Amino acid sequence: MRTSAISCLFLLLAAGCCGPKNSEPAYLDPSRPLEERVEDALARMTMEEKVALTHAQSKFSSGGVPRLGIPELWHTDGPHGIRPEVLWDEWEQAGWTNDSCTAYPCLENLAATWDRDLSLLYGKSIGEEARYRKKNVLLGPGVNMGRTPLNGRTFEYMGEDPYLASKMVVPYVKGVQSNGVAACVKHFAVNNQEVRRTKTSSNVDDRTMYEIYLPAFKAAVQEGGAWAIMGSYNLWNNQFNCHNERLLKDILKGEWGFDGIVVSDWGGCRDDDEAAANGLDIEMGTWVDPETEVDGASNLYNLYHLANPYLERLRDGRASQEELDDKARRVLRTIFRTSMSAEPHYGSFASPEHFAAGRKIAANGIVLLKNDGALPLQVPEGGRILLVGENAYKMMTVGGGSSSLKTKHESIPLDAFREAFEGKAEVCWERGYVGDTTTDYNRVVTGQDLSESRSQEQLLADAIAAARQADRVIFIGGLNKSKNQDKEGCDRLDITLPYGQNEIIEALAAVVPDLIVVNISGSPVAMPWASKVNAIVQSWYGGSESGHALADVLTGAVNPSGKLPFTVPMALSDGPLKTERQYPGIKEEGKTWWQEYYDEGVFIGYRWYSTQGIPVQYPFGFGLSYTTFELSDAKLSATAVKSGKEVTASVTVKNTGSVAGAEVVQLYVHDAESSVERPVRELKGFQKVYLEPGESARVSLTVKPEDLSFFDADAHSWVLEPGDFDILIGTSSEALPFDLPLTVR
Ligand code: BGC
Repeated sequence: MRTSAISCLFLLLAAGCCGPKNSEPAYLDPSRPLEERVEDALARMTMEEKVALTHAQSKFSSGGVPRLGIPELWHTDGPHGIRPEVLWDEWEQAGWTNDSCTAYPCLENLAATWDRDLSLLYGKSIGEEARYRKKNVLLGPGVNMGRTPLNGRTFEYMGEDPYLASKMVVPYVKGVQSNGVAACVKHFAVNNQEVRRTKTSSNVDDRTMYEIYLPAFKAAVQEGGAWAIMGSYNLWNNQFNCHNERLLKDILKGEWGFDGIVVSDWGGCRDDDEAAANGLDIEMGTWVDPETEVDGASNLYNLYHLANPYLERLRDGRASQEELDDKARRVLRTIFRTSMSAEPHYGSFASPEHFAAGRKIAANGIVLLKNDGALPLQVPEGGRILLVGENAYKMMTVGGGSSSLKTKHESIPLDAFREAFEGKAEVCWERGYVGDTTTDYNRVVTGQDLSESRSQEQLLADAIAAARQADRVIFIGGLNKSKNQDKEGCDRLDITLPYGQNEIIEALAAVVPDLIVVNISGSPVAMPWASKVNAIVQSWYGGSESGHALADVLTGAVNPSGKLPFTVPMALSDGPLKTERQYPGIKEEGKTWWQEYYDEGVFIGYRWYSTQGIPVQYPFGFGLSYTTFELSDAKLSATAVKSGKEVTASVTVKNTGSVAGAEVVQLYVHDAESSVERPVRELKGFQKVYLEPGESARVSLTVKPEDLSFFDADAHSWVLEPGDFDILIGTSSEALPFDLPLTVR
């Protein structure tokens, strides 16, 4: 009697008679804790439904749970703007007419601002665009280190220094994710070249990994809270990175506690067993295996390593349910953090605010390398300005690989200068050389006509003749996004300017005493003519507002404040990569994949040049302004500290010139005596300060114990050896007037 009464009550409760009517399942209720939603959804799913979450269902989407109303994940490139809509199964754009985005400056341009606030603005703005376009995972930013200036994707990364990249990546990630869009930080890891990117093992020791190649990813995860990471195409120590056990399970998910998704690079997953077991969560792709290059408009997604082959493994026990649940949990977490998140996000797209943000970021990252007085431009009333060079005209938001964009409008330098000098001076253009005449990528077309009938001799003669008639001459050249330049899928062949530009610059300099040279590129170029020209500007692929940003800086509307995020060497051969085994890798007897050895260890970029005492054209961290700054009164809060304690360095910066401007105070550390070989200086602090004329500010930078440490591979930990250090303060890696001694006890 009693038992049946209880059963009755239970049945009534279960039927919902006495409980709240129509209560939603926990996973649908965004006010519930995230993990509760995840567990609730997981408990309702079949094995097949879980597997559907772990692989692509189209070029840019991975599965959801249709039965439960859990949406699929939509991924998008990244990292400079929201990619145009592509066909379900093809790379070609789908021909939508409402998907023209704001193209933001390339990431090297962002890194050159050395401004954390601008990185936040970038992330917030691009995240809003992703959200508006209903994308949940933004494939960016990229933080691979500038190991060689030849890497074709240098322009998509944030420089050669792990500290700079770490500090710049965090606000970008936070900004993107504040929109309920996951930032997918790429390409994890040691994917520092495009040559044979799917066939090369980067053989790198642990110290070099932890000191140089991992910190920016770690910062993105631990400080930025990144929800997604993209595994790279290459191998680390002979295991593919999309399922590299040490990289993904031990380091990323183990040591760093990452709870988000690991997404494969497109086609980067290469092995059934490893894909199931080694920490990959979503397999995305183009083909099943790059070796077979099966491609095209056929539904191959069920053949993916993490699709039917995975199901078979799960069914016969070769793959574990725990691993599957772990993957499914991570994907669900990402869906609940993005499209099913508690906060409503709607985003915004191609708005005036976004174009203004792009222009501000682009201008603030332009670097003034030399100025003997030609800048800012002074043009006599009614005078003539001549621009020479293809990059004064060529649109460059289209091209370069997966970061290619379709933008609502693109400002080119020629138009921007005409706008800036309207009614004041005439602005003419001479092409000077023919570089890249393509004007389309994946069927996105710029609409420009870049055909040319003149010979190279004629182009040069026309440029020289026009230069003789002009009051001011500005050469605007550099690289572009065609093969062997700043482009995904191939590397540059050397660092010499292509298309005979060095000769054109020399010829112009011979007739124009105050020639201004603007190099537009995403990676360093040699400048053998530097002493023969009056002014040199390093500009970038600045996105939709590229031309305006350049005109802003050259006219003085914006005072340049960018600093180089990489070294500009005199010659490629001065750099640390001397042998084929270092770059681009060698074929070894008995090994399936190409082998590449990072023999240079931690000595890349300025760490190499400064330690070796090799002169460079322009050092890392360098950049001039139209005003002058004075640094004074540099101090440390203590000259001796106990190991484990922080110390604060402070310095006064004064704007001693007549226009407002910004300086970047930089702090480097030097270990006087160490049991391991260390670079003579390493960046460990920076702050950008905007000052009115005559204004000064006190800048404080904290040096933490880890900033003085090195990674001891044997002990697998950071080691701070007591002894003497120097805290170096200044305005570039080669201009460090303050040397403050510090003893660690
Ligand atoms: C690139 C990734 C990109 C993906 C999707 C790959 O080829 O390496 O960076 O996000 O394609 O377009």
